[in-house]
Amino acid sequence: MSKVLITGIAGLLGSHFSRFLLEKGYEVVGIDDFSGGYEENLADGVFCSTLNLTDLESVDKLFKEQKFDYVYHFAAYAAEGLSPFIRNFNYMNNVVASANLITSSINYDVKKFIFTSSNGVYGADNEPPFNENMQPKPIDPYGIAKYAVEMDLKTAHDQFGLNYSIIRPHNVVGIYQNIWDRYRNVIGIWIRQTMKGEALTVYGDGLQKRAFSDMVYYNEPFEKLMTEFNGEIFNLGADKAFTLRETAELVQKCAGNFGFKPEIVHLEPRHEAKYAYSDHTKAKKLLGFDDRTDLEETVNSMFEWALEQPEREVKNMKYETVKNIYGYWK
Ligand SMILES: NC(=O)c1ccc[n+]([C@@H]2O[C@H](COP(=O)([O-])OP(=O)(O)OC[C@H]3O[C@@H](n4cnc5c(N)ncnc54)[C@H](O)[C@@H]3O)[C@@H](O)[C@H]2O)c1
Repeated sequence: MSKVLITGIAGLLGSHFSRFLLEKGYEVVGIDDFSGGYEENLADGVFCSTLNLTDLESVDKLFKEQKFDYVYHFAAYAAEGLSPFIRNFNYMNNVVASANLITSSINYDVKKFIFTSSNGVYGADNEPPFNENMQPKPIDPYGIAKYAVEMDLKTAHDQFGLNYSIIRPHNVVGIYQNIWDRYRNVIGIWIRQTMKGEALTVYGDGLQKRAFSDMVYYNEPFEKLMTEFNGEIFNLGADKAFTLRETAELVQKCAGNFGFKPEIVHLEPRHEAKYAYSDHTKAKKLLGFDDRTDLEETVNSMFEWALEQPEREVKNMKYETVKNIYGYWK
């Protein structure tokens, strides 16, 4: 059976996909520095090398020892709204870390490199639903980082023959998601706020539109990409977009099932695309992608899981600039 490396294996995508591959009999090895994921998320018995991907020497040493067939690169710090205030951290974790992995994949003849980019590359000037043929126009360092890695993969393919696929997901949810990060994962933030007896915070008027999908529907198309296609880009995610206000009301309804009654409050708006959701025709046709997310069901399952989790610290990031930073992040 093939040997597969999953970076970010302690995060949302990594913890689900590693379980899926292990059940199918693949040999799975992970890398994670536990900056955004938790050891408790790891599948039973899976080997995870605790290293920071920005350290090329350690990455290259692991590749030399392990001889991976395939690489799924999920590790990133995906706090899009925060990225303008942590440019260095963003580019180190999202570009330099990826460049290191690409270098080692070239050095040790990895058969294919599968990269999770983001629909953040489409930016605010493209008209949603975004399709893969649109010219990326990112509006923040996170989107720029993802697009830079996409372009780097193309050059690695053209010059060194590294096979690759790019996935552009959006608003993925499910158990194992980090709900203790104050800067990202809006549904997770609302679940944490609910459990703390706080109000659900919505940035701006709440009329931003997003489409949320459950991670479980990503496993099969991810596996397919191991051996099918080369150089292709696929959007993955839910078709139906809701306003954030509607989504907050859904979380409020689910909270009621667990005895909570959170209010919803609106805060200062932030720099973001008002409407961001994608078209998934290509993934449905070519990868058999079949998203059947029932968001209410998923949010209920996240509440059940979250209530079993230990109390965790909500960390503050070290800002690199505080110019124009929002009141709620001061
Ligand atoms: N979840 C979403 O809605 C979504 C949407 C679009 C794109 N993506 C992309 O999918 C990927 C996975 O997202 P996720 O939701 O599972 O994120 P996550 O934060 O749950 O998992 C990422 C994991 O990477 C690890 N990590 C981060 N930086 C690292 C580094 N320098 N070295 C080693 N490990 C590091 C973290 O500890 C964490 O466990 C990311 O690349 C993200 O940008 C996610």
